[in-house]
Parts: sequence; structure tokens; C-alpha cells
Amino acid sequence: MDSPCLQHPMSLTHPGSSAFRGDFSSQGHEGALNLHPPKRLLALGRGGTTYTGGHSVCGRSLTSCPGQSKPLSLSIRESDDLKARHLTDHPVLNAENKMERWSGRVALVTGASAGIGAATAEELVKKGLKVVGLARRVEKIEELAESLKSAPGKLYALKCDVTKESEVQAAFEWIKTKLGGVDILINNAGTASNSKLISGPVEKWRKIFDLNVLGLSLCTKEALKSMKERGVDDGHIVHINSIVGHTIPHSDLVDHMYCASKHAVTALTEGLRRELVKQNSKIRVTSVSPGMVATEFMAASGRPVDPEQVYGSHPHLVAKDVADAILYSLGVPQHVQIHELTIKPVGETF
Ligand SMILES: NC(=O)c1ccc[n+]([C@@H]2O[C@H](COP(=O)([O-])OP(=O)(O)OC[C@H]3O[C@@H](n4cnc5c(N)ncnc54)[C@H](OP(=O)(O)O)[C@@H]3O)[C@@H](O)[C@H]2O)c1
Repeated sequence: MDSPCLQHPMSLTHPGSSAFRGDFSSQGHEGALNLHPPKRLLALGRGGTTYTGGHSVCGRSLTSCPGQSKPLSLSIRESDDLKARHLTDHPVLNAENKMERWSGRVALVTGASAGIGAATAEELVKKGLKVVGLARRVEKIEELAESLKSAPGKLYALKCDVTKESEVQAAFEWIKTKLGGVDILINNAGTASNSKLISGPVEKWRKIFDLNVLGLSLCTKEALKSMKERGVDDGHIVHINSIVGHTIPHSDLVDHMYCASKHAVTALTEGLRRELVKQNSKIRVTSVSPGMVATEFMAASGRPVDPEQVYGSHPHLVAKDVADAILYSLGVPQHVQIHELTIKPVGETF
């Protein structure tokens, strides 16, 4: 085979290294693959269908994953005439680097009634995903769903207080019954307060930890259960963290109990990654840490400041900036894990 035949184009990548990228020609369900040296393979078909297979030793074949709809068998031949350069500028062969492979899959976004969660739900629906949005103000998500009616995906609105275990479990049960299960979890719902460490009150601290730490962990546990019971090993958990999850800015705007909760999110991200690695899981976990974002957050947290005045005098991001970063981390090739993604507005002084 001297040149790539694209009658039935697909891309093949080695999950551990782009050095093993190659492409192949195929007729029907047969294809000749060119990789050197032989490695374990993952094949990505048109429409985001994925296939995994054994080792590309001459004469062996790849077969489709259980649960995948299209069977595929590739005959493997040793050859070195096709190189990675054939992949670099071909739109179909590059599909693995984009969001298309998530089209039709199910994403759960907590706190989808406002701010970053609403923007993320919207962008995911525009990419063709089935998105379930959770929040207490379900009518806000319903309004958003209505505005997205002509988008390729669909937004489902569910009323759920993420701090209540029974409500979270009911939401996952609904998703299981109606949509099969969760492939992506965006742990976004979060809150802060106007409390001080020297004066409390403890009820405000508890609200922060119940939502930012325990609610996030509960949704993570349920999402992993959902992925595992369906054999989904390419799932993705995204924690919306904050720059204050990594540092403590000298600013009167900062709520230190909120900082502590976001530092916990940093620990939970790495802790989960390690637990997944121990289980040989390919499920990915990402922490996204924005600086200041103009949303309802400041008002909802009861801070004694005028949000208009704060956003007018501080560089800030908008919710879509963070949504775009989330989609970037979801769209990178499957062997790549964006572990931590920090986004600051230009000029942020924290
Ligand atoms: N804005 C910033 O400057 C900034 C910076 C860094 C990180 N973050 C983080 O980004 C995430 C989103 O914040 P945002 O700025 O988009 O805030 P936001 O505009 O206030 O939105 C917060 C969302 O969380 C939901 N929520 C709050 N309590 C909930 C509960 N008990 N159960 C379910 N949903 C609940 C709210 O919905 P309901 O009220 O309808 O329930 C709302 O949809 C948070 O984790 C926050 O810590 C924000």
C-alpha cells in the first residue's frame, strides 16, 4: 500500500503516544494498518464510534468493543510507508482531537441554572450531547432548554439540591432509566459565603462544604458507578475548582472557608486520579480553576459587595470562557488528561 486510501477513512492512535499514530486504508470492514513499532491500539471511527484492539503484530486483528454498535475487524500488516504527517492536516483523521466523539453521549452538569454551569450546558448541547442540568431553580434550566431547541443535542432539566443525597440518587436513577447513564460529569455547583473564620457562623461553613466538597464527591461516586455498570471506560469527571483552590489571595473579597473547600477540590482531583489509576481505569479527571468570573456567584454567596462595582473594577472572565476551557479538556485525545487548567483574566492581580 503506497498511499492512504480514504474510501473508508478512520484514524488510529496509540493511546500512550502520538509517536504511534498512523492511518490505514480500508475496504468495507477490512483495513491495512501501518504502525511501527507494534503497540496496543485504539481506533476511532466516523461518528465517534470507538474500537479498541489487541497488539498490532502482523496478522493479528482488531475487533470492536463490546457495547459498540458497529463491528470492525482490521487486518494488521507491518509496513512503514505511512507516517504521522498524513494525519496532521486531515479533518476526518483528526476527529479524535475534537468534541465530535462525544456527540450523542450523556453529560451531567450540576448548577446548570446560572453562570458557568448554564454556559457549559449550552456549549455541550451545541456539540450534540444529551445534557442533564441539575439545580434547585429548575425553571431557569427549562428556559435554557427551550432556547436550545434547534441545537443538535438536548438539555434535560432536573430539580435537584446537590447537598441532598436522596435527591442526587433520584437524579441518577432518572438518568439511568431515561438516558442509560452518565458519560461526563461536570461538578460545577458551588457556593461561598460572607463568613469569617474568627466569627462563623458554622451553618454557613457547613453549606459550603456540603455543596463544594460533599455534593461534588457524591455526584462523582454516582457517576463512576453509572460508568462502571455500563462498561464505560472513556468517561470524564470535571471538577470546577478555583484559583483559590491553589493559593490564598490577599483580598477582602476572599472567603477563607471557601478557599479551604476549593483546596479540598484540588486534593479530591488528585486523589480520584490515583484511585482510578490503581483500578487501571481510563476514566479521566480534570480540575478547572478560574479566576474571577462575572456570574451570579457573588450575589448568591451573600457577599456584602456590589457585584457590578466589583466586576467594573476588576479584570474578569465571562462564563463562556470557562465553558470553552471545559470543552477543550473534554476534546483532547483520549490518552491525554488535562489534570489542572488554570484560567485568569488578563491583568488579574490576585
Ligand atoms: N464566579 C467566579 O468568580 C468563580 C471563580 C472560580 C470558581 N468558581 C466556581 O465556579 C462554579 C460555578 O460558579 P458560578 O460563578 O457559575 O456561580 P453562580 O452563577 O452562582 O451559579 C451557581 C450554580 O450552582 C447552583 N447551586 C447552588 N447551590 C446548589 C445546590 N445546593 N444544589 C444544586 N445546585 C446548586 C446554582 O443553582 P440554584 O441556585 O438554582 O440551585 C447555580 O446554577 C462554582 O463551583 C464556583 O465555586 C466561580
